[in-house]
Amino acid sequence: MIESILFKEIEIVSGSSVKTGDVLVKNGKIVEVGWDLPDHAEHIVSDSGLVLMPGVIDPHVHFRDPGAEHKEDLESGSKAAASGGVTSFFDMPNNTPATTSQAAVAHKKKLASEKSIVNYNFYIGATLNNLEDLNQCQNVPGIKIFMGSSTGSLLVDRKEDLAHIFANGSRLIAVHAEDEEMVQDNKRRFADSTDPADHMLIREDGAALKATKLAVSLAKKYKRRLHILHLTTIEEALFLEHQGGSGLVTSEVSPQHFLLWGPDVYARLGTLAQINPPIRTKRHADGLWRALKSGVINCIATDHAPHTLEEKLQPFGKAPSGMPGVETSLPLMLSLVNQNRCTMKDVVRWMCEGPAEIFGIRGKGKIEVGFDADLVLVDMGARTVLRNASTVSRCGWTAFDGHKIQGIPIATFVNGQMVYREGDFFTEIKGKEIEIAAPWDKR
Ligand code: DOR
Ligand code: ZN
Repeated sequence: MIESILFKEIEIVSGSSVKTGDVLVKNGKIVEVGWDLPDHAEHIVSDSGLVLMPGVIDPHVHFRDPGAEHKEDLESGSKAAASGGVTSFFDMPNNTPATTSQAAVAHKKKLASEKSIVNYNFYIGATLNNLEDLNQCQNVPGIKIFMGSSTGSLLVDRKEDLAHIFANGSRLIAVHAEDEEMVQDNKRRFADSTDPADHMLIREDGAALKATKLAVSLAKKYKRRLHILHLTTIEEALFLEHQGGSGLVTSEVSPQHFLLWGPDVYARLGTLAQINPPIRTKRHADGLWRALKSGVINCIATDHAPHTLEEKLQPFGKAPSGMPGVETSLPLMLSLVNQNRCTMKDVVRWMCEGPAEIFGIRGKGKIEVGFDADLVLVDMGARTVLRNASTVSRCGWTAFDGHKIQGIPIATFVNGQMVYREGDFFTEIKGKEIEIAAPWDKR
């Protein structure tokens, strides 16, 4: 274990500033940020030309452990995360069996403590009858409700059942917002379809808007903290904009929803592009990007949902929904910085500070004295081409195969320990459970 690291004369991006300076890390924490700090550290990093940013917090992944470890497990998923500059993740509850009890959450935390090289925590999934577990469970980012069905068996779609959960308890509720009835009606209409582009018609725009409106109305009625997962339509963004920014309702967007669009992506990638909620038209992709830039959408999450190529290449109707993303999100965003489409400060706000604030994570998301030393060294000049063959995730493919990147995470530090550097992993290091210190999380 390394006790201390000094990052010397490095460009530091954090908060509202980009400045050159030194960062001293001791026993897992940032203890000094300044200039000309004395070289009293066990390890000195002075690669001039590199940028130091806070580790990315990805608040939405599906690491498949336990239950479908052939797609991913907490070791392979956390390595994929580390290689992409992600130092913390929240994992979703649609495992087999689903993570809907305190014991199931505790089991996942134990698995992670043995396998994950980055920091972790786990959503608890809502069912029709687990209210006590939802509210009693210790230290989770929130309750995940599938208002529309997706991978796995979790579903709470009736208004009365949703109201019962919103009305009883205070911790954050995160929703997969798609109207189940509309989607099922469309599924019947398109039952014979063999065209993956029909996925965006089956999971129509209006189904997402209807569910988002219902969730927001319940949040307002019961004054319940609500987070809308993976926003996909411009109409939902406009609707949220008109709710005002009281902080009661927040939302996230995934890079694939603003960087890819139909029908092109379905013609190119077929069922590989099939995810829920779906990749929609360019009008939506552009609208989501604008909503992120204007602050209506509060953060980026990958919705990393790995399935094997064999599973994904089944015919439309049989192939499962979901695509990986945890290792490509930061390189994709750094490339947008290099294209002058956004700034490094935007990226840090959307991927580090934003998630920390939304979920009430203390001591992460910034490079400041007292904060955890979760850090990423980035080479903004380095170029690569994303390839299926170079994928770290066990699923072995990416929807961005062939995509040119400029801006690469070179090394990733978790609690002051280097867990990744240029293709090498240091798996003897393990991450920690992320403490949720949100004011609304009263149990
Ligand atoms: O496309 C999706 N895949 N959407 C979800 O809601 C679940 C995810 C998965 O777990 O495969
Ligand atoms: Zn998801």
